[in-house]
Amino acid sequence: MARTFAIIKPDAVQNGHAGNIIAHVQKAGFRILGMKLTQISLPQARKFYEVHAERGFYGELVEFMSSGPSVVLALEADNAVALWRETIGSTDPAEAAEGTIRKLYAENKGRNAVHGSDSDENAAIEIAFFFSGTELVG
Ligand code: RTP
Ligand code: MG
Repeated sequence: MARTFAIIKPDAVQNGHAGNIIAHVQKAGFRILGMKLTQISLPQARKFYEVHAERGFYGELVEFMSSGPSVVLALEADNAVALWRETIGSTDPAEAAEGTIRKLYAENKGRNAVHGSDSDENAAIEIAFFFSGTELVG
């Protein structure tokens, strides 16, 4: 079994989609190991997305990610990283496949409803960024 890390971003929480997205997570075959509602701080958002620090959208991205409550999740499944990225769809909802979370719930490329880790290594780093060991079920 592998793990991935997901965020239900502030746009989706604010728009009332968190419950439907959690149901979608479970229907897609993930076991939820950890989950909490949290408002990500600006410094946390800057650190979390520091790989994008040189990109033009970085300032807007970190402002958005700290603009309201998010739900952060540690998820388990076979091939969790790839399965979650397939479940959420392309970054830009206009390009996301039918039935994916971003197609269903994202507003646009920036306010795109959910995050997913891009590798097993980053999944472990991102889970540890938001959860202590005792916050995850065994
Ligand atoms: P994420 O990391 O949030 O799961 O998204 P991703 O891998 O699909 O996309 P990535 O390239 O890592 O970009 C991170 C987030 O930055 C925002 N973004 N805005 N306006 C733009 O052109 C633009 N490009 C990216 C999105 O919120 C994206 O999810
Ligand atoms: Mg990414």
